[in-house]
Amino acid sequence: MKKVQLTETVLRDAQQSLIATRMKESQFKDILSTMDKAGYYSVECWGGATFDSCLRFLNEDPWQRLRDIKAAMPNTKLQMLLRGQNLLGYSPYPDDVVRMFVRKSVENGIDIIRIFDALNDVRNLKVAMEETKKAGAIASAAISYTTSPVHTLEKYVEMVKEFKQMGADTICIKDMAGVMTPYEADQLVKAIKDALDIPVILHTHCTTGLAYMTVLKAVEAGADVVDTATSVFSGGTSQPATETIAAALTQMGYEVPVDTAVLKQVNDFFKPLRAEALESGLLNPVVMGTDTDALNYKIPGGMLSNLVNQLKQQNALDRLGEVCEETPRVRKDLGYPPLVTPTSQMVGVQAVQNVLLGERYKVVGKEIKAYLRGEYGRIPGEVDPELLKKVLGDEKPMTGRFADTLEPAFEKTKKELGDIAESDEDVLSYIAFPREAEKFFAARKEQRENKRAYTIEAVE
Ligand code: CO
Repeated sequence: MKKVQLTETVLRDAQQSLIATRMKESQFKDILSTMDKAGYYSVECWGGATFDSCLRFLNEDPWQRLRDIKAAMPNTKLQMLLRGQNLLGYSPYPDDVVRMFVRKSVENGIDIIRIFDALNDVRNLKVAMEETKKAGAIASAAISYTTSPVHTLEKYVEMVKEFKQMGADTICIKDMAGVMTPYEADQLVKAIKDALDIPVILHTHCTTGLAYMTVLKAVEAGADVVDTATSVFSGGTSQPATETIAAALTQMGYEVPVDTAVLKQVNDFFKPLRAEALESGLLNPVVMGTDTDALNYKIPGGMLSNLVNQLKQQNALDRLGEVCEETPRVRKDLGYPPLVTPTSQMVGVQAVQNVLLGERYKVVGKEIKAYLRGEYGRIPGEVDPELLKKVLGDEKPMTGRFADTLEPAFEKTKKELGDIAESDEDVLSYIAFPREAEKFFAARKEQRENKRAYTIEAVE
């Protein structure tokens, strides 16, 4: 009997896709010990936008969150999503920072690091993968799946062969936009399995309605692990439902080693959280439906909810249709980058500007300039020559790795921060998100002092 395992995403991608990563530790901590008994392959609980959100919106120490989850789930592999050389941020970091970040992630409780690069430039996964292996964790190398004239089956197979040579323990097909069709899943999983003897993991989103069929075809083609979300946080821009996939695959004769009674307990726990998020408007019904437009636009779930928010803030939600049409045009002009952080933000912001300003590329963000210079890595296709000339003038894009031009930063930053940072983890938080980390350090200090003042009063 072929075994198929499940990765539960409610603590990371599901809540990132549906409620803008606003789930607080206090809201989920009581279910962790139950989740630990579910039998998941892993629980994705860290990385992606969670780190940023902890510091920026939730006034939580992301490292403490990770340690707490680990303590409550000693029997489950904890998984994080890492944006390759960009770590959890939006632009490349020097190698010493990447190495330290990976080492500290593993030290604080991460067992599996899923590593991807927005442009599928394998050079951007190399350092993080090396360090993951060195730290004794599982390195899962991910393909940022997209379709375009330059993204062929052969290219993907070449890529996973390189991943294997770099030491990948597993390969993840990361379909962040939920645009992978059942047929494509069948072809790609088979092609990878034909080329290599390595576990294949499928990560997709329900955005376009394809996900359940795509999962099924991927499993039939030999996929070993599938990402799913507990049912009340599934569907829409999130993953397919854990209980549903488990039921379907089990009946077909696959061994799915999960405890369905525990899955029900987990889901019951999250029901009030969903109700609350709907009530407050944090969970917008727009992201819960099926949107087949994304099949044309190739807009990932998280990006779609960002576009909705951006337009809402500018009182221009009625232009969403135009922005969705402009997005693939911007993508083509930029040489078909897959739409995943940070390229999804760049393309999204540019598309919004192009529409709202009434003139294309009237304003070009500094991230797009850096992208065109080659700072994010090799661009998959050809950039529109006119756009390139307009933005770079006579400057030639770089061919080497941008990280090689960066000075080591960890020790220097640590020295500069002095007492402000209480640990190496603090230093990393600061390097990743300086302003947010500083604000968090100050709030933490104040909280402690208030507590102390209160304690003294209470004693007196
Ligand atoms: Co995702």
